[in-house]
Amino acid sequence: MILLRVLRLFIFCLVLSTLCSITKCGSSDVTLKFLKAPHAFSHLNSATFAFEVLNSGSNRTCSNCSLSCKLDDGVASVCTNGRVTYSSLQDGNHGFEVCTNGNHSFVGCASYNWTVDTIPPTAYVTASTTFTSSSNVSVNISFTEPCIGEGFGCKSVNACNLLVYGAGQVVPSSFRVLKPNLMYSLLVSLSPTVQYGRAILVMDRSFCTDIAGNSFTRMANSSVHLHIDRRKVYVNIRTRVPEKLLRINSETRTIQATNDLNKLKVYLYFSSPIVNSSMEVMSSLNISRGSLVPTSAENLGNRRFGFMIANISSTAIVSVEFNLKSIITRQGTHVSPTAPVNFLYDSKRPADVTLGVVEQVQGTPFLHHVNNFSEIFGKYSSGWNRLCDA
Ligand SMILES: *[C@@H]1O[C@H](CO)[C@@H](O)[C@H](O)[C@H]1NC(C)=O
Ligand SMILES: *[C@@H]1O[C@H](CO)[C@@H](O)[C@H](O)[C@H]1NC(C)=O
Ligand SMILES: *[C@@H]1O[C@H](CO)[C@@H](O)[C@H](O)[C@H]1NC(C)=O
Ligand SMILES: *[C@@H]1O[C@H](CO)[C@@H](O)[C@H](O)[C@H]1NC(C)=O
Ligand SMILES: *[C@@H]1O[C@H](CO)[C@@H](O)[C@H](O)[C@H]1NC(C)=O
Ligand SMILES: *[C@@H]1O[C@H](CO)[C@@H](O)[C@H](O)[C@H]1NC(C)=O
Ligand SMILES: *[C@@H]1O[C@H](CO)[C@@H](O)[C@H](O)[C@H]1NC(C)=O
Ligand SMILES: *[C@@H]1O[C@H](CO)[C@@H](O)[C@H](O)[C@H]1NC(C)=O
Ligand SMILES: *[C@@H]1O[C@H](CO)[C@@H](O)[C@H](O)[C@H]1NC(C)=O
Ligand SMILES: *[C@@H]1O[C@H](CO)[C@@H](O)[C@H](O)[C@H]1NC(C)=O
Ligand SMILES: *[C@@H]1O[C@H](CO)[C@@H](O)[C@H](O)[C@H]1NC(C)=O
Repeated sequence: MILLRVLRLFIFCLVLSTLCSITKCGSSDVTLKFLKAPHAFSHLNSATFAFEVLNSGSNRTCSNCSLSCKLDDGVASVCTNGRVTYSSLQDGNHGFEVCTNGNHSFVGCASYNWTVDTIPPTAYVTASTTFTSSSNVSVNISFTEPCIGEGFGCKSVNACNLLVYGAGQVVPSSFRVLKPNLMYSLLVSLSPTVQYGRAILVMDRSFCTDIAGNSFTRMANSSVHLHIDRRKVYVNIRTRVPEKLLRINSETRTIQATNDLNKLKVYLYFSSPIVNSSMEVMSSLNISRGSLVPTSAENLGNRRFGFMIANISSTAIVSVEFNLKSIITRQGTHVSPTAPVNFLYDSKRPADVTLGVVEQVQGTPFLHHVNNFSEIFGKYSSGWNRLCDA
């Protein structure tokens, strides 16, 4: 703040030196002197000017000189008592002019230019990502205009103009000036022990001002919420078909069965949103016969993806392979393997049955076919009958 005061004092002195300089009106008998004027960069939308006309010879005030004042391109008006105030000024550059007729009808003028800036400086905080599983994120701080005084700084965790609440803290050694007084970057480290949590980054209050003296003000985007999510993300593969329990090879499994081709839909439910599109998810599914068509179902914030298996002839044997290795969650992690899900497609005649079984093969969901149903279902005919009823 001391630096700030010094700087503003310096600006004020510049103004004063302008004020002290006496405008000689030509070869004339009078001079115009400003006694009061706004700062060259003013945070006020009003301005008061005070001035006097001196007789060059005596340095005494010319009490009989008439004065006219003009703001910007407005019309000149008589200003009495050597004083005028303007209010409701727009932000931007302004010019003031005062003219006198002197005592021999001589017209002389003096002008003063200044800038009104009532808009406080603010800064936008952007993070490299707002959902993360990593140990740190890089943060940029961009000011809307130069913010002077001490300016933005980050000397230590406890003396940083970027405040961090929650499961993180600034890394002062990473502090970089990208554009002096305008743009900075630094790293925020995130607590490695947190599985799931949040860190809020927010700009400090009132630590700098613009050249006009407006104090730094936070806006909505002067803060960023970081979502830390290091939990495993699972995918659950489901079909629209009702589930049935069935014992196959002495294991109890969930089988979903239908003989309705329209119901042969596969849904992938991720426990957390992923970054990939429906088409990208589809490209990670491999179907041996027929084709996959994305359904237009609501994707629940990029968590659910539905596909219809189309163009399967009734006698075809279908296998779908799930290769989710390149599916990335919004926090940048991979998807964990899921529990197996099975589903069955049944024309009416058991001999022509096509069965798809989704199983987990080395951690990757794998849908394969079973060629010979008589083999499986002959053994568990009661289960099969229940399925056929479904
Ligand atoms: C008018 O100007 C003359 C010199 O130019 C000066 O002697 C005289 O005092 C002035 N009169 C007034 C009233 O200021
Ligand atoms: C009038 O004032 C100016 C500035 O203060 C000074 O330089 C000048 O000598 C003065 N003139 C007379 C006649 O007093
Ligand atoms: C003021 O000026 C006018 C003419 O411009 C003159 O008639 C008048 O006497 C002056 N008054 C004084 C007080 O100097
Ligand atoms: C103020 O600005 C006007 C127009 O830009 C210029 O003519 C004038 O000389 C300026 N006055 C000062 C004191 O700088
Ligand atoms: C920060 O700014 C630099 C330079 O403009 C840019 O390359 C980088 O992507 C930005 N980082 C963030 C987190 O916005
Ligand atoms: C920031 O995180 C990245 C990736 O997690 C890591 O490689 C890097 O060393 C970390 N940097 C610091 C300063 O902690
Ligand atoms: C910050 O928010 C303001 C409105 O509140 C908007 O005008 C501005 O474009 C935003 N800046 C960035 C970098 O998002
Ligand atoms: C999923 O998105 C990530 C990140 O954009 C990309 O690297 C990956 O290739 C995508 N996966 C597929 C299957 O397209
Ligand atoms: C699909 O299967 C083909 C042939 O077996 C194989 O080359 C390809 O890598 C598989 N793609 C995926 C996404 O599993
Ligand atoms: C199904 O097969 C027909 C005929 O071969 C083809 O025209 C159609 O595009 C296929 N549909 C899909 C979704 O692949
Ligand atoms: C299917 O399995 C049954 C019982 O093991 C056997 O009798 C039949 O020949 C098999 N069919 C085919 C097509 O392999």
